[in-house]
Amino acid sequence: MTLTAPQPQEKFRKDYQASDFAIESVELNFNLEATATIVDSQIKFRRTGDATASLQLDGEAFETLSIFIDGVELSTEQYQISNDILTIAAVPDEFTFSATVKVDPLANTQLSGLYQTSGNYCTQCEAEGFRRITWYLDRPDVMTTFTVRLEGDKESCPVLLSNGNLAESGELANGRHFAVWEDPFKKPSYLFALVAGDLGSVFSTFKTMSGRTVDLYVYSEHENVAKLDFALDCLKSSMKWDEEKFGLEYDLDIYNIVAVGDFNMGAMENKSLNVFNTAYVLARPDTATDFDYEHIDGVIAHEYFHNWTGNRVTCRDWFQLTLKEGLTVFRDQLYSADMTSEAVQRIESVKTLRSFQFPEDAGPMSHPIRPDSYIAMDNFYTSTVYSKGAEVIRMYRTLLGSDGFRKGMDLYFERHDGQAVTCDDFRAAMADANSVKLDQFENWYLQSGTPSVDCNGEWDATTNTYTLNFKQSCAATPGQDEKHNFHIPIRVGLLAASDGSELIEEQILELLEAEHSFSFTGLPEEPVPSLLRGFSAPVKLNFAWSDAQLATLMGHDQDPFCRWEAGQTLFTNVVLDLVAAQLEGQTMQLPDAVLQAFSSTLYATGIDKSLQAYALALPDLSTLSQEMEIVRPDELFKARKFVVCGIAKALKDDLLDLYKKLSPVGAFEHNPSEAGRRRLRNLCLGYLACSEDQAAIDLCLAQMQSADNMTDEFAAFSCLAGIDDPACDKAIADFYEKWQSEDLVIDKWLAAQAAAARQDTCARVEAVRQHQAFDIGNPNKARSLIRVFFRNLVAFHQQDGAGYRWVADRVIELNKINPQISARMAGAFGPWRRFDQDRQALMKAELERILASEDVCKDLFEIVSKTLNS
Ligand code: TRP
Ligand code: ZN
Repeated sequence: MTLTAPQPQEKFRKDYQASDFAIESVELNFNLEATATIVDSQIKFRRTGDATASLQLDGEAFETLSIFIDGVELSTEQYQISNDILTIAAVPDEFTFSATVKVDPLANTQLSGLYQTSGNYCTQCEAEGFRRITWYLDRPDVMTTFTVRLEGDKESCPVLLSNGNLAESGELANGRHFAVWEDPFKKPSYLFALVAGDLGSVFSTFKTMSGRTVDLYVYSEHENVAKLDFALDCLKSSMKWDEEKFGLEYDLDIYNIVAVGDFNMGAMENKSLNVFNTAYVLARPDTATDFDYEHIDGVIAHEYFHNWTGNRVTCRDWFQLTLKEGLTVFRDQLYSADMTSEAVQRIESVKTLRSFQFPEDAGPMSHPIRPDSYIAMDNFYTSTVYSKGAEVIRMYRTLLGSDGFRKGMDLYFERHDGQAVTCDDFRAAMADANSVKLDQFENWYLQSGTPSVDCNGEWDATTNTYTLNFKQSCAATPGQDEKHNFHIPIRVGLLAASDGSELIEEQILELLEAEHSFSFTGLPEEPVPSLLRGFSAPVKLNFAWSDAQLATLMGHDQDPFCRWEAGQTLFTNVVLDLVAAQLEGQTMQLPDAVLQAFSSTLYATGIDKSLQAYALALPDLSTLSQEMEIVRPDELFKARKFVVCGIAKALKDDLLDLYKKLSPVGAFEHNPSEAGRRRLRNLCLGYLACSEDQAAIDLCLAQMQSADNMTDEFAAFSCLAGIDDPACDKAIADFYEKWQSEDLVIDKWLAAQAAAARQDTCARVEAVRQHQAFDIGNPNKARSLIRVFFRNLVAFHQQDGAGYRWVADRVIELNKINPQISARMAGAFGPWRRFDQDRQALMKAELERILASEDVCKDLFEIVSKTLNS
């Protein structure tokens, strides 16, 4: 940062004040030009607060050409601009403000505000991008109706889109044309959008529950139009689902989705004009994996569901972000569970939570789902706000039942439709609709950190009574030394050790205090407790199950999550024991329990193949590393690999048999059962590839070459990308050759190399960076190479610090191009305190180097300074 630049300001939740002005209506006119777009605004203001308050508008990154109040131009003495705020001292109680400003979309590499992507114009306004377009009260609680006129070149911009309904369009002189869009619903500025360019589309209609017909369009660059049909189907099924499950109907006659290649996040719910990252729209069997299909369906649903949870009812201020995001993620999770399988969906959500949110909550950026302060709001679109926020919503449903939850939702909409509200309003609706108190539940919004729940069981053979003793606690997190008790629902069952049968009706135990005991009487034998079924609360549950008890749970628990979890616990115990063995200089040995557990799942028949695949996979390194006092990347990697290879060696023939049995019959089909077959078959391939011998390489090459779909092709390619062998290097070259014109496939090519467990991964990512395929300005490419690399525990934490240096160099490079993405990549260093002294010193030096670099943006400043100060 230069000396003259102001220190980034921290904003606090407690400082919220309503606006002194309301906006009655806004009219915008865009004259689109690549480097000089002229934006005229006409904003009707009405004073609602302090009679003496001056008008203060947000604006940045554009040139102000003129400002008028009620048609009279202001001289430069009549207003002030400083720190991106325009102040006009004396304004009437009602007036029209107008401004003409000049924006440079082509120079906008931040991808916030109005920018160009592949020659097309688009906008991204959440959270605070609208102020990069024109002067405004850029805050979510100021809502109004928008009328937007777009004027552009007919040839390069045949498509002109904005929110709401098309009111008018027509031809103009000089090869230009225009369109006027009117959005009848009041909205905050963050939901504004425009798109203009040469786009192709697919079209369909949806008939709503009240019988209205809605026109649906999905747009992309012409070359990708053949990959849009799936997204259109997903949109229709989301619309139907929200009607059936929540009684929520779409409210306009048109719904547009536009896919763009340059986008900071996944997608954006702008009213009736969603803008999507191509990664969450484009689908074709040969280019998209089963995961991609799942994610596309989930994200299309997510953005659609925002129309009610986000747009019709929006956030009062950005601290309330989880009000719309946690709730909408929860809704998209319910939807995905209905579309695929509840159990698979649940395991996937919990895996994501544990790999990303748990570490975040244990690191320097730990924050409550409703944060108390921020420097750059963009840094708070986190897995805590999204994923943990969704877990908190899920707990309402667990506590209130699904009917009670629905009653709460209905009351929430009844009370707050058209308003900008808070998380407390949501909690009140849930409590009031069910006539219950949810006061202590607020601690989930107030406190950061993952709570621990320690549990033990006591068997009294004389009274046939089993007692479960629970104790909750939560470690200190930044700014929060003392924690209050959470309200924790624990779903439990008790199984007979003898045959795995259920001994009691499942119960929900509510923990409200630090310690609780629950007794179960009249049991025929000492039970095996099945705890935290369905992952009923986002906590770390500790119970010292024996291997035999885990085997009972794995084999018999009626709750599929706990069945999976039992296996994961067993694997985790084994891997951590092997790390300890290494540190004590002992040789590693594979316990029989692992092979027994693995083979009984491998031979099991009649179970969902996706579940089988998840049960057979070891926890990832990120999840395992959370169990270590000091993270030892090399020992942990070796231990995990030892188990994987030990299993593969012992069960090689069985794995190969199953692999062959699961061969495709017929052409690719996208459905849960086929996806399960592919998942299980590719899991076998992963184990078989472990040997890295010629047979394994040949098997992978054969699959890669014969696959008619990206799931199988990429699974094989990923195995090969991790093996140091000339045949594998050739596979890397061949894959590029084949897919070089498909951007999203090239992202996979980058990611597979960055994820590779090879000695030379660090050097190889640098080579790939210099390859023509890489473009650091494209967020998907940056994430595919840089983020995947820093999540590669062994390569990133290479002893000599080369990985740290490489990532820090990229962060510094990105700071000048895209602040949001640079800050995200700096997250690489978040867990630095969890490593040994040498690695800590190396990471600290890189953090300091980043902070000392030129013109550090506030996004990056926030992440790096908080990381260093932890
Ligand atoms: N509201 C978007 C979603 O979750 C998130 C989003 C999209 C976003 N683009 C963004 C947030 C840019 C910050 C910056 O669906
Ligand atoms: Zn969202």
